[in-house]
Amino acid sequence: MQKTGSLPLPSADALDASTALAARIGEAIDAAQGWLGFDRYMAMALYTPGLGYYSGGAAKFGRDVRDGSDFITAPELTPFFARTLARQLAQWLEQGLDEVMEFGAGTGRLAADLLLALETEGRLPSRYWIVELSGELRARQQATLAARAPHLAARVQWLDALPARFAGVAIGNEVLDAMPVRLYARVGGVWHERGVARSDGGEHGNDARFRFADRPLGAADVPAAVAAIPGDHDIVTETHAEAEGFVRSLGAMLSRGAALLIDYGFPASEYYHPQRTGGTLMCHYRHHAHPDPFLYPGLQDITAHVNFSGIAQAAVDAGLEVAGFASQARLLMNAGITELLMSLDPNDARSFLPAANAVQKLLSEAEMGELFKAIALTRGLGDSVPIGFAAGDRSHTL
Ligand SMILES: C[S@@+](CC[C@H](N)C(=O)[O-])C[C@H]1O[C@@H](n2cnc3c(N)ncnc32)[C@H](O)[C@@H]1O
Repeated sequence: MQKTGSLPLPSADALDASTALAARIGEAIDAAQGWLGFDRYMAMALYTPGLGYYSGGAAKFGRDVRDGSDFITAPELTPFFARTLARQLAQWLEQGLDEVMEFGAGTGRLAADLLLALETEGRLPSRYWIVELSGELRARQQATLAARAPHLAARVQWLDALPARFAGVAIGNEVLDAMPVRLYARVGGVWHERGVARSDGGEHGNDARFRFADRPLGAADVPAAVAAIPGDHDIVTETHAEAEGFVRSLGAMLSRGAALLIDYGFPASEYYHPQRTGGTLMCHYRHHAHPDPFLYPGLQDITAHVNFSGIAQAAVDAGLEVAGFASQARLLMNAGITELLMSLDPNDARSFLPAANAVQKLLSEAEMGELFKAIALTRGLGDSVPIGFAAGDRSHTL
């Protein structure tokens, strides 16, 4: 478990908010006879109104600890991410579609930069919907749009849940990884569901108020993908009912069009590989990645990698087609990130070098290029191959 001494301390106000959230989680644990599924803990830690990480006042997105942020995402790193994705969106919009919908829009950077790039491409949608759970983020998105793309801001409208029907192009960057997961642990050859109980704080050498607590499961209660992990060695893993449910709702909503979902993760064969013994649960606090979800509830991000086979299956169950699955590097290269970068003057080191470095981060196998994947889900768009998946499509691995 993470020792808090090595990390920057939160402000007194932030600590008070975390204490209030921990009290609520404690009450939920008591109400559930002392044991809460990890998915419920994660949902409360991230989304309790006013106190959860995404619904409270944490800075979250940014470049480094000095701005109080915890992590950086691709749209924050460089506008070349949005400019390149705009080409893929434009190809889909050309097929008689006129609206875009973004899930979980963070600071609003992707929305602003996509709208600006689609304007350049001559493919501006008449409406850009943002589905956002957090009122605090919605306000930030409005400020970003007013600052970066004021003449386009009127096209943006917010929703707090998926609508019943939508024809158009949907996009979500790092949204699936923020959805609550269940944890499963095989200990001594027996599968358990790993949940959360109250702690007296002693066992981790810090003041943690919660601890993991394992409940043994009967064979019928172990999800099939988990039960199928070979061996009897100890292993922890996750399942993603909420993300898969979200994709089924997306499938029910999308009457015609495409959805592009980008996130870190793998197909099931890699996700549930017997050597991945520690699972993929990861927390982000002030640009430190660490495995302790009980540190400062509400003040740090909690995520898990995405099982893209489960996402693809949920999409197919909902009547969508998987039109492509590729690494982020492949998607961006196919959609022309290199030509876009070359529109800058390479001799102008002050603008070219930072842009080239950021693009390199998006593409490098050692950084985001290979771990991040993109999946394209479509309905009613015929056989046309999406440009971002024209080479290097790995749908067969799902
Ligand atoms: C890691 S952030 C990514 C933000 C932004 N897309 C980016 O790339 O910078 C995850 C976002 O997903 C949002 N989110 C989680 N579940 C969601 C859901 N069911 N519908 C819409 N947004 C959701 C969170 O509120 C949060 O804004």
